[in-house]
Amino acid sequence: MIGGQELDPTELHVELPSGREPVLRVVPMPADANPSGDIFGGWIMSQVDIAGSIPALRLAKGRVATIAVNSFVFKQPVLIGDLVSFFADVARVGRTSITVNVEVYAQRRFEQEITVKVTEATLTYVAVGADRRPRPLAVTEK
Ligand SMILES: CC(C)(COP(=O)(O)OP(=O)(O)OC[C@H]1O[C@@H](n2cnc3c(N)ncnc32)[C@H](O)[C@@H]1OP(=O)(O)O)[C@@H](O)C(=O)NCCC(=O)NCCS
Repeated sequence: MIGGQELDPTELHVELPSGREPVLRVVPMPADANPSGDIFGGWIMSQVDIAGSIPALRLAKGRVATIAVNSFVFKQPVLIGDLVSFFADVARVGRTSITVNVEVYAQRRFEQEITVKVTEATLTYVAVGADRRPRPLAVTEK
C-alpha cells in the first residue's frame, strides 16, 4: 500500500536471470513468518548465508566460515508460499577469502506468473582448516 493505493503487483514483475541455475530453491512456511504475516528477515538472511556458502565451498574445496555480511538489502517482502530462488556468484577471490553476491527472487501468484526480486546481498567467506584457522586457497584472483 503506497499513499492509500494498493501497489499493482505486476509492476514489480521481473524475469528470472536467464541461462542461470539457482543454487537453492525453497518455499517458506507459516512457521517462518513474522508477527505481521510476512516472512521473517532472519529466515531470509540464514537462507542467503547457506546459498552464498555453496559456491564458496565448491571453490574452497572444503570448510568455510562466514566472516562478514558486507551488504544486505530487503527490496520486497517474501510471502508465505512463495517459491524463493537464490542465485549466487563469486565476486572476488582473495588469499583465504571468497566474496559472493547473492540475488533472491520470489515467484508468487502462480496463476499470474509474477516474479519479484526480493533481496540482494554480498557476503564474505574464509576457507578454514580443521583447526578453524584461515587456510590459503589454491586458486588465483578472479
Ligand atoms: C573466519 C575466521 C577463522 C577468520 O580468522 P581471522 O583471523 O579473523 O581472519 P584474517 O584476519 O586472517 O582474515 C581472513 C580473510 O578474511 C578477510 N576479512 C577479514 N575481515 C573481513 C571483513 N570484515 N569483511 C570482509 N573480509 C574480511 C581478510 O581480508 C582475509 O582475506 P584474504 O586472506 O583473502 O586477504 C574467524 O574470524 C572466525 O572464526 N570467525 C567466526 C566465523 C563464524 O563463526 N561464522 C559464522 C557466524 S554466524
